[in-house]
Amino acid sequence: MCGIIGIAGDQSVTNRLLDGLKRLEYRGYDSAGIAVIENNKDGDILKRRRAQGKIVNLAERIKQEPVDGVLGIAHTRWATHGAPNETNAHPHFAGRVGLVHNGIIENFSQLREQLKGKRSFQTQTDTEVVAHLIDEAMNTGMSAKDAFANTLKQLTGAFALGVIIDGIDGTIFAARRGCPLAIGLGDSENYIGSDAMALATLSTRVIYLEEGDWAIITKDSVEVFDENDTAVVRETTIVSTSMAAAEKGNYRHFMLKEIYEQPETVSHTLTHFIDAFHYKAKTPKELELENLDWRKLERLSLIACGTAAYAAYVAKYWFEQLALMPVDVDIASEFRYRKPALSKNTLAVAVSQSGETADTLAALRYCQSKGLQTAALVNVLESTMAREADFAMPINAGPEIGVASTKAFTSQLTALLSLAIAAGVQRGHISEEREHALIQSLTQIPRLITETLKLDKDIEALALDLSKAKSAFYLGRGVHFPLALEGALKLKEISYIHAEGYAAGELKHGPIALIEEGTPVIVIAPSDEMFEKTVSNMQEVSTRGAKTILITDAKGAKHAKDMADAILICPEVCPETAPIVYAISIQLLAYHTAVHLGTDVDQPRNLAKSVTVE
Ligand code: G6P
Repeated sequence: MCGIIGIAGDQSVTNRLLDGLKRLEYRGYDSAGIAVIENNKDGDILKRRRAQGKIVNLAERIKQEPVDGVLGIAHTRWATHGAPNETNAHPHFAGRVGLVHNGIIENFSQLREQLKGKRSFQTQTDTEVVAHLIDEAMNTGMSAKDAFANTLKQLTGAFALGVIIDGIDGTIFAARRGCPLAIGLGDSENYIGSDAMALATLSTRVIYLEEGDWAIITKDSVEVFDENDTAVVRETTIVSTSMAAAEKGNYRHFMLKEIYEQPETVSHTLTHFIDAFHYKAKTPKELELENLDWRKLERLSLIACGTAAYAAYVAKYWFEQLALMPVDVDIASEFRYRKPALSKNTLAVAVSQSGETADTLAALRYCQSKGLQTAALVNVLESTMAREADFAMPINAGPEIGVASTKAFTSQLTALLSLAIAAGVQRGHISEEREHALIQSLTQIPRLITETLKLDKDIEALALDLSKAKSAFYLGRGVHFPLALEGALKLKEISYIHAEGYAAGELKHGPIALIEEGTPVIVIAPSDEMFEKTVSNMQEVSTRGAKTILITDAKGAKHAKDMADAILICPEVCPETAPIVYAISIQLLAYHTAVHLGTDVDQPRNLAKSVTVE
């Protein structure tokens, strides 16, 4: 995961920036760089040093060609757009501007097109264009502040930015949309960091920028503006340095922090599985899965437990529709005991956040003993499953502390959809044009998650009613059926309210008998081809007294406006990526319900994060 650190002060910054980068190493990265404004007799000069690979390479580079100043920004890059080489490493320069970025600038190719002829691009990144836009705006006579604010308005995507400008003494410009960014407060010195860990040892007083905020930081001032450019005051939080790695920031629970991290964590997953610059799904070779050939496989067997199993159920729809590949999904604890009939050309994929779940690991070993090729889609790359499987595929969601899985789920989905697209392309079922469109939709997910997070307050209000219920139902069709199962699981896990997920069409075959006056029914139905049918099912329960919450988009809301008791309007999203975006609303609903009930959200009773017994 990319990391950002910046220092605006009056003491030398280079070594401290390097220290900060080292503290961010745990996030994983493939190149690193720093930029400083060097003050010398010829005036201020913007300089940078970058290196592929580990931070020791960057430190070595700086040793060979020293740079220093009292103002600087630094970055560890986990490549999204463009290969992980020195040219694509941050900071990016354009004229007087030096810039570091986390996240994805979705509309980078349109913006590059706009600047065609005026600017020359050195890299294959989505980031570089942002530096050009700021520099170009200043060339038209705008102040640096206006140029920065103006540029932010042109960007679509999820991002955190840190910018320094030659000639603008001692100032860092920073912005946050979708990806977290914190400001550390010091004495005669202030900082920016992508998380509290970056700021550990520098500062314990931290301002967490809110969604859409941007800021101007100098050694003795911090000005914060909201998305409407209005100056605002944000709360200062005291963090304990020793706990910084596992800090909740200004979130009440790890679960909420992890829900809010998803624009960033999904970006990191995408980084690994797609080539966003060329709108391509990465081939097995690019994913370093040398002997994997989607064309030679006849079947896919996805094996998992809990939330990971629901991600696998969603993926079944994707692999079958996009790659015409038959898929079996198995709950790991059932798998080996039912003595499955396995065919040779099957790839068995263990899906597991921890990579340690006993049943999933046993299933993986069982498949290996039967001579199948095996893969592990995990969040912990050092885990047993990753080590034992033929192919290890990291989802790169970062440490998940909350017992109820949230960000790992959306990252598992993102990885599985990327793989399904790659399989579809390699098996000849997806045209280049369709691949391009699908990958474009994938790169929009971080922004759409950010938009969905804005429903937080509405969801909190709805959760108050839900918290009074004894039992609840979640309904969905197609890819939203497994999402309904996951919604019900989330509610059970942390609020202890009994909940069931059902395929919307199946409810009338039994469970509808349980519907009585006031029973909450949460219906997940974007306005896709299944919408009408799902809404009919919603009406079947409405007429029997259920209290319905419809989760849909603006079009669906318009159509069903008098049919549901409450409607949550999610952003418009393409049918394939919809479950990833809609997952956010069901996570927030479970979270707020649990908070209303006062349960131990991060460590719910009887549950363990990693279940290493059968
Ligand atoms: C436990 C956790 C769940 C998780 C499941 C599978 O039951 O409480 O949140 O989904 O294990 O874990 P894994 O690490 O294999 O994804």
